[in-house]
Amino acid sequence: MAAVDINAKIPNNVDLAGDRRLQRALEQWQPKFIRWWEELGPSAFQHNSVYLRTAVDVGQDGWANFGHVEMPDYRWGIFLAEAEKDRTVAFGDHKGEPVWHEVPGEYRSDLRRLLVVQGDTEPASVEQQRHLSLTAPSLYDMRNLFQVNVEEGRHLWAMVYLLHRYFGRDGRDDADEMLERHSGDPDNPRILGAFNEPTPDWLSFFMFTYFTDRDGKYQLASLRESAFDPLSRTCDFMLKEEAYHMFVGASGVGRVVQRTADLMREHDTDDVHPHGGINLDVLQKYVNFHFSVSLDLFGSETSTNAANYFASGLKGRFQEERRNDDHRLKDDHRLVPDCSDEGIGTREVTQLAALNETLRDDYTEDCQKGLERWNRTLAEAGIATTIELPHVGFSRQVGTFRSHRISPDGRLLSEREWAEAVDHWLPSVSDRDHVTSLMSGVTEPGKMAGWVATPSRGIHQQPIEYEYVRL
Ligand SMILES: [Fe+2]
Ligand SMILES: [Fe+2]
Repeated sequence: MAAVDINAKIPNNVDLAGDRRLQRALEQWQPKFIRWWEELGPSAFQHNSVYLRTAVDVGQDGWANFGHVEMPDYRWGIFLAEAEKDRTVAFGDHKGEPVWHEVPGEYRSDLRRLLVVQGDTEPASVEQQRHLSLTAPSLYDMRNLFQVNVEEGRHLWAMVYLLHRYFGRDGRDDADEMLERHSGDPDNPRILGAFNEPTPDWLSFFMFTYFTDRDGKYQLASLRESAFDPLSRTCDFMLKEEAYHMFVGASGVGRVVQRTADLMREHDTDDVHPHGGINLDVLQKYVNFHFSVSLDLFGSETSTNAANYFASGLKGRFQEERRNDDHRLKDDHRLVPDCSDEGIGTREVTQLAALNETLRDDYTEDCQKGLERWNRTLAEAGIATTIELPHVGFSRQVGTFRSHRISPDGRLLSEREWAEAVDHWLPSVSDRDHVTSLMSGVTEPGKMAGWVATPSRGIHQQPIEYEYVRL
C-alpha cells in the first residue's frame, strides 16, 4: 500500500502523486467542495477554532490527530484501510475467486450507482444539520456536531475518489452532481427520503445520529464485504469514523433520558415541560419517527437489485464471513412481512430475494441495544415507563406496509383510527414547538442546556469544561 502523504494538497494514502491526471481532476473538484462547504456547511462558527479529530493514517497505532482548526482549513483526505493479502470474494457467484482491483465491465453501472447513492447521503446530512450550531446545548455538543459534519465531508471525499479513479468522465460528472443536489431542494433533492427531512433541533440530531447514521453503518458494513477491493477498504476506514457518530447519538439521547428522569424525580411529576425538560412520551414519539424513517432506507422486503448486487459480489451482508451458510443463498428461505387489507402476515422467499429485510433485521437488533440502556436509566431512577421501538410496519413509506396504517404495537388500522391517534405516536406540532422552545445555544465552557444531562466525560481526555470551540 502507498505511504500516507499527509502534506499533499489532498492528504492521501492512495499515491495520488503517482497519477497526475487523477490528482489534477481531484484538485479541480477540491475548490468546488470548499465552496459547497462554505455555502451549505455549518451556517455559523465556520471561522472559529474547533477541537477536531482529523484522520491522518490507517494503522493500528493511532489514525487520527486532535487539535484546534477552523473548519474550512480541515484536512479532508482520502484513506483506504490496509489491503488484506490474498483476499477472496466471500459470497455470491464469484465466491472463492480473488477480489477485484479494477471494476469489471459488466458491473460498472451497478457499482457506480452504489457509490452515488452512498456518496449522496454524506453531504446531505451536513446540509440537514447546518443551522444546529446556533442552538447547541453546550460547546462539547457543538464540537461533536462539527466533528460529525467534517467527517461526513470526508466520506464524500471517499466516494468521490472512487468515482474519479475508476469511472472516468461519468464519475467526474457524478462527483459534481453530489454538490448540486441539495437536501430538501424541490427541484434537485437528495436521492433518499430521510436525507431530505430537516434536522430542526438537537433532539432530532441525536435521534438522527442514533438511527440514521446507524443505517449508514449497516450500508457501509455490507459494502465493506464487496469484491471490489478499493470499495471494501474505503468503507472499512469510514466505519472507524462512523462509530463516533453513533456514540454522539446514543450518548446524546441517553443524556436527554437522564435529564428527564432527574427532573421527574426532583419535581415528582411525569410532566417535566414546565421545568424545561422533555417528557418521555415526546421522546417516544421522536424514536417512532426516526426509527421508521430509517427503516425505509433499507428498501423493500424483497429486491431484485439487492439480490443482483449480492450474486455479483458487489454488496454482501453484515458480517458476511461470520455466517454459517453457503453464502450464495439461492436455496435457503426465510419469512418476510406481508401486509394486505386482511392483516399482517408473512410470506416465504429465498434468502437471496430478502437481503434488504435481513439487513433491516440486523439493524433493528442493533437499535434495540440503545433502548435497553435508556430504559435501564429510567429503571434506576424508579420510573416504570419504558421507551420501545415501534412495529416494523409503523409509519412506513417503502415496502409492503406503505399503503397501510399500522399502530406502534402492530395493529392494522383504518384511516380514521390512524388520524385520531397519530398525534400520540408521532411528534405533533405542539411537541415540536416545545422542543424548539428549549433550543437556545449555551456557549460558556462546561455549561449545559437544561434539557440534557452533562456527559460523563470530555473528548480525548480533555475535561468537560474544555474550550472545544474557541469563540
Ligand atoms: Fe458518513
Ligand atoms: Fe455518519
